[in-house]
Amino acid sequence: MAPYNIRWGIMATGWIAETFVKDLLRDPNVRGASDVSHTVVAVASSSSKSRAEKFISETGVPGSCAAYGNYEELVADPNVDVVYVATPHSHHFQNVMLALEAGKPVLCEKAFTVNAAQTKILCETAKKKNLFLMEAVWTRYFPLSIQVRDLIKNGAIGEVLRVIADNSFGEDVETKWGTEHRMVNKDLAGGCLLDLGIYSLTWVFQTLYHTLPREQRKPPSAISAHMALYHLTGADEATTVLLTFPTTTPSNLPNPGQSQAVAMTNLRVATDPAEDNSARPAIRIQGTKGEIQVDGPAFRPERYRIIPKKGHGDIKEVECPFPEGAKGMFYEADEVARCLRDGKLESDTLPWEESIVIMEVMDEVRRQGELTYPEKIESTVYPTVL
Ligand SMILES: NC(=O)c1ccc[n+]([C@@H]2O[C@H](COP(=O)([O-])OP(=O)(O)OC[C@H]3O[C@@H](n4cnc5c(N)ncnc54)[C@H](OP(=O)(O)O)[C@@H]3O)[C@@H](O)[C@H]2O)c1
Repeated sequence: MAPYNIRWGIMATGWIAETFVKDLLRDPNVRGASDVSHTVVAVASSSSKSRAEKFISETGVPGSCAAYGNYEELVADPNVDVVYVATPHSHHFQNVMLALEAGKPVLCEKAFTVNAAQTKILCETAKKKNLFLMEAVWTRYFPLSIQVRDLIKNGAIGEVLRVIADNSFGEDVETKWGTEHRMVNKDLAGGCLLDLGIYSLTWVFQTLYHTLPREQRKPPSAISAHMALYHLTGADEATTVLLTFPTTTPSNLPNPGQSQAVAMTNLRVATDPAEDNSARPAIRIQGTKGEIQVDGPAFRPERYRIIPKKGHGDIKEVECPFPEGAKGMFYEADEVARCLRDGKLESDTLPWEESIVIMEVMDEVRRQGELTYPEKIESTVYPTVL
């Protein structure tokens, strides 16, 4: 049977849009996906049509591909099956609403929105309009993440009671990002929590929360957070979050009846300063019978090890390399294709409800850290001109 093909419209022409399109254009068979395929049929830039044309030629999109100088034309294009939103997170709410209102399914980059209220409206709108919507947390769809979740569900390290996750970049913030770059610019929802901390929280949630049957999943019962704000813009440059879940996984035992997590992110110190895994691991998933350690970076790990408790077997190292030259963004794209093929509105691997709970955690972390963004980008009013 011919693979199920979906036709993508790309909204924005920045760094991640380019990475995504290059991955989409790779042969799906190389990653063992023979059931789905992808075509890029339209690209839109908010600045000019020529910018979109340049993007199309530089990424090497084959065949006919429309170039637009605004996002409105993209979402109105009848050839587009699904829109990939790759703008800064400040703009996600407005951009996703634009696509949904035009009747298009959406894959939207992380962080989904600036706050949980915006995410809720997007999900309600998608539901009302019977449209597929998914937050593009690519890490969840990697074979490595699936293996780790399965190990936990199968009890490989016993009952998991604690997770420590870090996603930190050791940069000279003033030199690297100044004041205008979206990483530190509050007008673009800058700061490490929404951009990098989301991956630390992803590991916390995909291990301690997602591995339970859906009806047993419970949001954290306690959250404590510390934030340090960047002196030049006020965006967060260091954030540490402590969480308690009123559950344990995979058996959800009445005693101790809870699990704990630490999620960290920092712009000035690195998870792995030498970038050679000499400071491994980035993630520790600790159970009563041993632990799983995942080497960083947390957003794109390629190796993990299972360390059984003393006297219960040997350490097992597992490599999960990506296909040569690929980033690995096609795994989430394949999920979108399968969901559209199967008539699903949301992905089981990152359901709307879980995206909302994570956004609520980040709202609370920002409240405790006293990080607010300009009213316009926190707004739930659509349309709002940004
Ligand atoms: N999954 C991942 O691994 C990953 C990695 C990096 C980033 N991201 C996410 O992807 C999103 C974009 O990040 P990026 O690194 O690609 O950013 P970027 O390089 O700055 O690109 C953002 C693009 O958005 C468009 N845009 C529209 N309005 C804008 C405005 N007011 N200011 C700046 N750009 C505007 C621009 O393209 P046009 O105007 O041409 O449309 C711009 O090129 C963020 O939400 C980020 O968190 C995800």
